[in-house]
Amino acid sequence: MATNRIIVTRPLPAATIAKLQQAGTVDVYTDGQMPHDLLRARAADADALVTVLTDEIDQALLDAAARLKVVANVAVGYNNIDVRRARARGIVVTNTPDVLTESVADFTWAMILAITRRLAEGDRLIRRGGWQGWALDFMLGAELKGKQLGLVGFGRIARAVAARAPAFGMRVAYADVREAEGPYERMPLDRLLSTSDVVSLHVPLTPETRHLIDRTALARMKRSAYLVNTARGPVVDEGALAWALRERLIAGAALDVFEHEPAVHPDLLPLENVLLVPHLGSATTETRTAMANLAADNVIAVLSGRAPLTPVLE
Ligand code: GLV
Repeated sequence: MATNRIIVTRPLPAATIAKLQQAGTVDVYTDGQMPHDLLRARAADADALVTVLTDEIDQALLDAAARLKVVANVAVGYNNIDVRRARARGIVVTNTPDVLTESVADFTWAMILAITRRLAEGDRLIRRGGWQGWALDFMLGAELKGKQLGLVGFGRIARAVAARAPAFGMRVAYADVREAEGPYERMPLDRLLSTSDVVSLHVPLTPETRHLIDRTALARMKRSAYLVNTARGPVVDEGALAWALRERLIAGAALDVFEHEPAVHPDLLPLENVLLVPHLGSATTETRTAMANLAADNVIAVLSGRAPLTPVLE
């Protein structure tokens, strides 16, 4: 039997690579973002791809990949992969759910606290020498206790965010196609937007959720409310958000993801009431290691004829 060829588009921990080497020869691209043409050419005779969310696994790549059996995405989101085409060609797609749930939920709260208590704004003020000293009414933020956290999408990560809400005295509402267990109020998106004090996005990126948060949605929000996006950038129309923040239609926003990463809409950059973070939601050593290992375990399972651990079922 020919040796399996495994292409890995980004450096992974040495132990993960060693694990993968049990299943075949491993070729790791170590020079940043792997150019799409190169990935397509290398995929043509690969048995497995270990990809990240910036790799576009499109129809042309999948159609040219004659021996490909599995694409293991090191991410829970998989909007970078044409899953339907992969399925039609008998190629398994896997993602990394569960292992990142708690770290992303912690991070979502870090974003909520940072924007409502103006942490980055204060840091910028100190660094430019602008701090004149303590005053009773200086840089006041918003309290969370007694307020409503509105979760858009109520999957694993949103539920882990909700589970932390009692620690901050917030009640939780959610908008989702499915009814969930727990002391949470389900409501239509329009009502969620108009009644929540913090709106946090937890939907996957699909044609239906692209620009879900547009001018109309932003105009529905309270002027005192905050928007948090740790999901996918294109769920928010960044131009519309810059407008809403500038016009003070909402109080602030905290963004970990952007429409055209690593670019950020230029109109957001001068605004003080937006926190900009470079896609760090799952970025702890523990979680990123677990994500890499889960992707490797999926590859090994498929190449040894076993069922994948975490297949994308769409
Ligand atoms: C990161 O954005 C992920 O989808 O895991």
